[in-house]
Amino acid sequence: EIKGFIFDLDGVITDTAEYHYKSWQKLADEEDLFFNREVNEQLRGVSRMESLEIILDGKEVPEEQKKEWTDRKNSYYQDYLEEITKDDILDDMEEKLMKLKKDGYKLAVGSSSRNAKKVLKHLQITDIFDTIADGHSVENAKPAPDLFLYAANNLGLKPEECVVLEDAESGVEAALAAKMKAVGVGPESRVGKAHLVYANVGDIDFDEILKKL
Ligand code: G6P
Ligand code: MG
Repeated sequence: EIKGFIFDLDGVITDTAEYHYKSWQKLADEEDLFFNREVNEQLRGVSRMESLEIILDGKEVPEEQKKEWTDRKNSYYQDYLEEITKDDILDDMEEKLMKLKKDGYKLAVGSSSRNAKKVLKHLQITDIFDTIADGHSVENAKPAPDLFLYAANNLGLKPEECVVLEDAESGVEAALAAKMKAVGVGPESRVGKAHLVYANVGDIDFDEILKKL
C-alpha cells in the first residue's frame, strides 16, 4: 500500500537544469574545459563533485583545484537561484502536492542538491513536505539508495510504501535499488527503467500512479 511520495527537486518540481548549465559553462569557459548542453544532460541527478569529474572526463586535476572550481560554479549557481520565485514551480505541481497532502499521504523531497532548501524556500513550498533529504543528508549519492531510504525512514515508512518521482537515470536507479516504486519523468531513453513513465511533469497523474503501482 502506498503511503508516501518522495520527490526529486531539480527536473520534477522545478527546472534548475538551465541554471546549472549556465554556471558550469561559465566555469568551463574561464578554465578552458570542454563543455556543452550534451555534457550538461549527463549531469542530471549527479552530485556536484561527480559532475565536475564527468566534465573533466579523465583529465587529472589536483583536489584543491577541483574544490575551488566546484565552489566557484556553486557561487554562480547561487546567484541564479536568487532569481527563482513561485512562478518557477513546474506546471500544476503545487496543486498536485496539496491534493496528496490533503488525502493523507506523507511527502518528502529527495534531492542530491546541497542547495535544495534554498530552492524550496524561493519556491515557497518548504512547509508542504514532512521531510527534506538533500545533498547534505547522506554520504553516498544517487544511484545509491541511501538518500531515498533516509527520506523514507524520516517519514516512518517502509521502502515498499513509497513512490519516488525522478527525472534522472541515476535517480530511477536509486529508487529501484531502495526497493521503492519509481515514476520516471522524461524520455524512455533516460527514465525507461521506472515502473511508470510520463513524458512531462504536467502529464503526471497521481490517480493512475495509485491505481497501477
Ligand atoms: C541535482 C541536479 C544536478 C546537480 C545536483 C547537485 O541532482 O539534478 O544537476 O549537480 O543536484 O546540486 P548542487 O546544488 O549541490 O550543486
Ligand atoms: Mg532531477
